[in-house]
Amino acid sequence: MEAIEVLTGRVSPAQLVEPGPSAAQLEQILAAANRAPDHGRMQPWRFLLIEGEARARFGELMAQSLKRREPDAPQGKLDSERKKAQRAPLVVIVAATVKENPKVPDIEQIVAAGAAAQNMLLAAHALGLGGFWRTGPIAYDAAVKRELGFDDADTIVGIIYLGSIGLPGQAKPADVAAVTRRW
Ligand SMILES: Cc1cc2nc3c(=O)[nH]c(=O)nc-3n(C[C@H](O)[C@H](O)[C@H](O)COP(=O)(O)O)c2cc1C
Repeated sequence: MEAIEVLTGRVSPAQLVEPGPSAAQLEQILAAANRAPDHGRMQPWRFLLIEGEARARFGELMAQSLKRREPDAPQGKLDSERKKAQRAPLVVIVAATVKENPKVPDIEQIVAAGAAAQNMLLAAHALGLGGFWRTGPIAYDAAVKRELGFDDADTIVGIIYLGSIGLPGQAKPADVAAVTRRW
């Protein structure tokens, strides 16, 4: 695939299935993520890989987080929250690990971690795999962050689901002219 087609053709798939990225593909995906623009060479991103059985533990964290937010949530809602962790063979939590730096404001470190997450999606797409980006309240739940081994100062910028494409997604039209102007 031409690089420009990778960039303009990425779409979130409607469904991801097994198999997940092979070891060699995962290495390429992580290498691409690690090539994100990085002011001050701080590598302000961290990648937490959750696959196989670990997804059930992650699903449990998601359900517990929902229960804290909604103590009266019905069992069905908790179960579907738990199942979200099984939406892909591989879940990668991308966090920004912000360090004080007089030349690199916090926002730049967070944006760089976001760029790493996007590189991950693009690399997966280039390899013929699929991926989608999620966050939601669990990304901002301090208890979840702690359980996953992040520091309080870390920010989860993306929960990236990766796998083979079960059902392709459809690109939603978005007018670039509406968001572009000359000055
Ligand atoms: C930081 C970030 C967080 C997102 N979180 C969610 C989310 O929690 N739920 C969701 O449905 N889409 C979320 N999205 C949007 C989807 O990943 C996706 O981009 C959107 O549905 C458009 O589909 P497309 O990727 O095919 O253009 C998020 C995107 C970004 C950049």
